[in-house]
Amino acid sequence: ASTLAEGAAQHGRYFGVAIAANRLNDSVYANIANREFNSVTAENEMKIDATEPQPGQFNFYQADQIFNWARQRGKQVRGHTLAWHSQQPQWMQNLSGQALRQAMINHIQGVMAHYRGQIPIWDVVNEAFEDGNSGRRRDSNLQRTGDDWIEVAFRTARQADPSAKLCYNDYNIENWNAAKTQAVYNMVRDFKARGVPIDCVGFQSHFNSGNPYPSNFRTTLQQFAALGVDVEITELDIEGAPPQTYANVIRDCLAVPRCTGITVWGVRDSDSWRSYQNPLLFDGNGNKKQAYYAVLDALNEN
Ligand code: G3I
Repeated sequence: ASTLAEGAAQHGRYFGVAIAANRLNDSVYANIANREFNSVTAENEMKIDATEPQPGQFNFYQADQIFNWARQRGKQVRGHTLAWHSQQPQWMQNLSGQALRQAMINHIQGVMAHYRGQIPIWDVVNEAFEDGNSGRRRDSNLQRTGDDWIEVAFRTARQADPSAKLCYNDYNIENWNAAKTQAVYNMVRDFKARGVPIDCVGFQSHFNSGNPYPSNFRTTLQQFAALGVDVEITELDIEGAPPQTYANVIRDCLAVPRCTGITVWGVRDSDSWRSYQNPLLFDGNGNKKQAYYAVLDALNEN
């Protein structure tokens, strides 16, 4: 294979990228995205503040720009994200209790209705657990509506679009020994035991000196998959883009049958939310980096 998408397809996986709508008219950017990837995540445009700027008034202008760009080129779209403590519009930040709970439900229903049957995978809940060793839920306005907010979000999403795969997505849950990883694992195990509809777990995989790539990442993917969910690498970027580390992540996914795909969080280093770390596969000029070749080689192994 000579592209990331073809390489992943050899293994029945997708290879995706996060796209920003306001960069799509940059031809270098758009050409790389079109050539190399067959799945697209909107970096910001499907988030709550973008899609429901006023209560009950949905705006899919930028989201649809990305959606249509991808679909016209035969690419899958990963939906990101429906319920999150961050990037809430001001009106939602001001809500609490039952009013916020209902607003969350309405938001999930409104966005999923717009894309019903057309977005096969959704990050339903994003980043609901605390960092560090507590293993607790993150304190947020959503959490303060009651511990059941996550399962309500998943049940709402299942009803809103029964065809969509429903994911829980988080960062710093790649190391099997981390308290945060164990906390998410226990939630997923509990959801499966009680029949709460959850189909996948997204491991964002933002690796850097504070959250280095763990050699037990493959174990983590295997353990979650054994609960009966798919696992996906959803926002991959690695500080300094060391080729070996990139290759290891690819091999970890390919070693786990239920690891269905990999998404990198941006096209060029200059497009990254952490551009100063040069964490991506293409440099600022759009040239392939050593990390790119390491990923492609790993995809072309056996
Ligand atoms: O669009 C506004 C612009 O109008 C304004 O002038 C400018 C001033 O700061 O801000 C622009 O919005 C920024 C937006 O990115 C678009 O560039 C926001 O400030 C900025 O906070 C936002 O950052 C995004 C971040 O999520 C917000 O939480 C990053 O682009 C995006 O890469 C990042 O993605 C997250 C995932 O969704 C979840 N996992 C972690 C990941 C990295 O933080």
